[in-house]
Amino acid sequence: MSVKILMVCLGNICRSPLAEGILASKLPKDKFIVDSAGTGAWHSGNQPDARSIAVAKKHQLDISTQRARLFKVEDFETFDYIYVMDKSNFRDVIRLAKNDEQKEKVEIILNELYPDENVDVPDPYYGIDNGFEMVFQMLDEACEIIASKLKANHG
Ligand code: 4NP
Repeated sequence: MSVKILMVCLGNICRSPLAEGILASKLPKDKFIVDSAGTGAWHSGNQPDARSIAVAKKHQLDISTQRARLFKVEDFETFDYIYVMDKSNFRDVIRLAKNDEQKEKVEIILNELYPDENVDVPDPYYGIDNGFEMVFQMLDEACEIIASKLKANHG
């Protein structure tokens, strides 16, 4: 059975689609499933933000076929690991958890790089274009560590 990992941000159009594409590119597809979702529904059904698609393409990743969806409580059952992009996403997701087992699945993604520091992946939506490249680099570093751990634990 595949190990399932969910990336979560607010809109599911900027950060978590990149996190999904980056992590998926580092894992064998026959053993791991990577998905993403947002805690807000404004963009449900939409493609990732054009700036996220462009920065992914620059790094040889195609995220254009992804479509935004809302995080749902069933995701706690479906997924083994849930990575959130910032502290606000963490609060929103934890609020929906039914028990400690579900809460323990949720981690702030940059804690993989900076343990226990709860550093946010900044929301690039209203920022400058360069913010997307910065977000890509942060997520690429974090996903490298996550992929190594996952392959070691579930390979
Ligand atoms: P994301 O960025 O959470 O990285 O997808 C956002 C995209 C859209 C909005 C907020 C954050 N919005 O408010 O529409």
